[in-house]
Amino acid sequence: MGAARKTKTDKTPGKNKTNTRTAREKPQVVFVGWVKPGINRWLSCLNSTYSKQILAKKHQQKGEPNKFPKGVCAMKFDNRIKEADQMLREILAMRPLSKHALKQLKEYYRIGLTYSSNALEGNSLTESETKVVLEDGITIGGKPLKDHFEAIGHSEAFDLLYKLARQQTITERHILDLHKLFYFRIDAKQAGHYRKVGVVITGSTLALPRPQEIKKLMRDFAADVEAKRAGTHPIEFAALLHIGLVSIHPFIDGNGRTARLLMNLALLQAGYPITIIPPVLRPDYIDTLKATNTGDNKPFINLLSCMVCESQRDYIRLLKNLDEG
Ligand SMILES: Nc1ncnc2c1ncn2[C@@H]1O[C@H](COP(=O)(O)OP(=O)(O)O)[C@@H](O)[C@H]1O
Ligand SMILES: [Mg+2]
Repeated sequence: MGAARKTKTDKTPGKNKTNTRTAREKPQVVFVGWVKPGINRWLSCLNSTYSKQILAKKHQQKGEPNKFPKGVCAMKFDNRIKEADQMLREILAMRPLSKHALKQLKEYYRIGLTYSSNALEGNSLTESETKVVLEDGITIGGKPLKDHFEAIGHSEAFDLLYKLARQQTITERHILDLHKLFYFRIDAKQAGHYRKVGVVITGSTLALPRPQEIKKLMRDFAADVEAKRAGTHPIEFAALLHIGLVSIHPFIDGNGRTARLLMNLALLQAGYPITIIPPVLRPDYIDTLKATNTGDNKPFINLLSCMVCESQRDYIRLLKNLDEG
């Protein structure tokens, strides 16, 4: 990954330079990445439990011993929820944010969520390439047109997500509009419309609803949203929305991206920051969703709670940095 290479370079200032460091070499402060939206987020994760968790995953994949056994996910679920509640209080106390901070954060998360959500579905654009496409309007040579369209479309859906976050409702129309925005450049006819054909999830034996059942299922799903929200912790609620949508799989494609937008809408409405599922954790993401097929939602809720905590930690760090700037 480009990110890993960059991180390594930044950590290695060069031989014998300790005593002869010039002013130009100095600004290798890792947190710079947080105040410049679009700079690879991994750069700024160097010391976080989360990056240790990712490294642990890589060790596991290579069959090497885990050098970082105590990641954030090692914490007991109840304790993690308590920590999330505590961090939420801290975040709420930092608000209202300045216009400058709001803008910086929005652009930062636009790149982060667009990149990660599309990459989870096989989009080949890296985070830096996504930034170049969205912020500079430049295409990436040799990369599929579709991948560019997906980035631009998702960025537009992201704007709607922010708008909808100011309300306290989630409706069926919101779900359709989110899908429409990120999908219409890919397939205008299907964008914002329920599928009219049967689909299967690759790698899963889950029997998905037939097309003629979808309208009612989605109407019921949307009608149940507020009741579900009322008696549920916001993180669990966000997870249940994600699970509910992908289990109906109402669209011919783009169900995962819609589910992640919907999940983030629920989180934003409750005051949480945007939560990203990093592509490197795709196997865990898919495995925990698989468990939901047999009615076990816990692993997915647990995974999401880890991701939320990490996002909160990053958000607080980022805000403190913006304040100092
Ligand atoms: N076993 C499963 N059960 C429920 N949902 C799943 C399962 N496996 C994958 N998914 C979800 O389905 C998504 C893929 O569906 P798809 O319609 O292709 O969405 P997208 O085009 O956004 O990837 C995944 O991102 C994930 O959210
Ligand atoms: Mg897909």
